[in-house]
Amino acid sequence: MLDPIVLVETDMESLHSQLGGLQYDNAPESAAIAKIKKEYGLFINGQFTSPKDHKSFFTINPATEEKLSKISQADANDVDAAVQSAKRAYEKVWSKTTGPERAKYLFRIARLIQERSRELAVTETLDNGKPIRETRDIDVPLAAAHFFYYAGWADKLSFAGYGADPKPIGVAGQIIPWNFPLLMAAWKLAPALAAGNTCVLKPAETTPLTALLLAEILQQAELPDGVVNIITGDGSTGAALVEHPDVNKIAFTGSTGVGRMIQQRIAGSGKHLTLELGGKGANIVFEDAPIDEMVEGIIDGIFFNQGHVCCAGSRLLVQESIAEDVLRRLMRRVEQLRVGDPMDKNTDVGAVNSAEQLARISELTATGEEEGATRLTSTCVLPSKGFWFPPTVFTNVSQSHRIAREEIFGPVLSMLTFRTPEEAVQKANNTNYGLACGVWSEKGSRTLWVAERLRAGVIWANTYNKFDPTSPFGGVRESGFGREGGRQGLEAYLNV
Ligand code: NAI
Ligand code: MG
Repeated sequence: MLDPIVLVETDMESLHSQLGGLQYDNAPESAAIAKIKKEYGLFINGQFTSPKDHKSFFTINPATEEKLSKISQADANDVDAAVQSAKRAYEKVWSKTTGPERAKYLFRIARLIQERSRELAVTETLDNGKPIRETRDIDVPLAAAHFFYYAGWADKLSFAGYGADPKPIGVAGQIIPWNFPLLMAAWKLAPALAAGNTCVLKPAETTPLTALLLAEILQQAELPDGVVNIITGDGSTGAALVEHPDVNKIAFTGSTGVGRMIQQRIAGSGKHLTLELGGKGANIVFEDAPIDEMVEGIIDGIFFNQGHVCCAGSRLLVQESIAEDVLRRLMRRVEQLRVGDPMDKNTDVGAVNSAEQLARISELTATGEEEGATRLTSTCVLPSKGFWFPPTVFTNVSQSHRIAREEIFGPVLSMLTFRTPEEAVQKANNTNYGLACGVWSEKGSRTLWVAERLRAGVIWANTYNKFDPTSPFGGVRESGFGREGGRQGLEAYLNV
């Protein structure tokens, strides 16, 4: 039987005495690079509306609670204007624009994202709270990569495997969450435009700024008016978009609850639908796995983006024979994670995106101890302002615990053990979700045996959270349906 606390505490003491007073200098990125405006209107028909014409709300920096900008709240009339603009652009312009011409716009948008990458990264970090290292090295380059990749498909749709001359659907209503704001906008817009659809995109209410900056980039790229409309607002704006009769397709990424509601709302309407919802990914670790890489993979799987990741490896399944060793190494690594100012280039874990999300994480983790699990937490000092949660690992977790079943969407890992590959598969599949899993083993045949039996859309072998525009991503069961990325990602925007 493990005694995790004693084991980890002894190890931490020796780690601290070894590291002594070792300190990093601050390495802050400059907030001035972001050039955020005081207020924004809605982006409809290629122009920004006047902010005075709308009710408004503030978007804040979750690391400081400072107001960043005043954002327009789109009501049903605004949604209608955006949809009509997208419909006109579809009928008059975009459906008559050839594939090679559409590709030129997409390439241009990709290049402009690269040119303005630093501004985008800083804006994203300020608005979202995620570390600048991640926005700079992951969110923004991947967003550009998605536009580059789908630009390549725009004139080759007849080779995509969906018939000789596949047709677009029409007007796509796209609703995205706050965890990867710019990247999710790219995942939605790039394939839709490549396939010949026009779009109305609604970013999440806590992170609208990079979508509004993207609107400026679309103007710069001289994308025809109305081909993309970007409207800000909360769930009521999203609901109005879902219900608009002239929207032909809804693409949604967010919570399973809202996804389920959307599916009910549009049932029988003939609207196309794709849903990318939550997850409770299992990261399965066998005793023969390369241990140092595997520990990095576990860390990356759950602490990347503060755990605000639908495919996070939030359940760690460790083979019992190595459980003690893995836990010791894991907690040693957790203690080394640098938590704090997201604008500092040394930061590993930034701020939780909102007070609401922090409350959800706190509530759910409290049930961990109430139900009998053991909480191990980084001793990092958290900033006094903003929304923060320390990297946390639960041991002595049983499959019935809420922390083993429900999506926490925060930097919280639940560790369980198994003895045989059969037991690992049974435990990994014991979830209503089915988005992603990881398998760590030196033995290819074992990895393939396990992968074949896992019910999840994405399975990583000896790596985790690896994304590429050429590779389809999506879930099964309560994680949703439809694929984004790759050739398969075109299907969601073609009338097939
Ligand atoms: P949410 O599902 O409410 O928000 C996602 C998007 O949907 C936002 O743009 C929101 O404005 C919009 N929305 C909300 N209600 C709507 C409605 N009735 N009709 C149309 N659009 C609507 O997610 P929330 O509240 O921000 O997070 C709650 C939980 O959901 C998180 O704790 C996490 O577990 C999960 N989540 C999962 C995500 C994923 O990537 N799979 C992303 C965000 C949240
Ligand atoms: Mg914000």
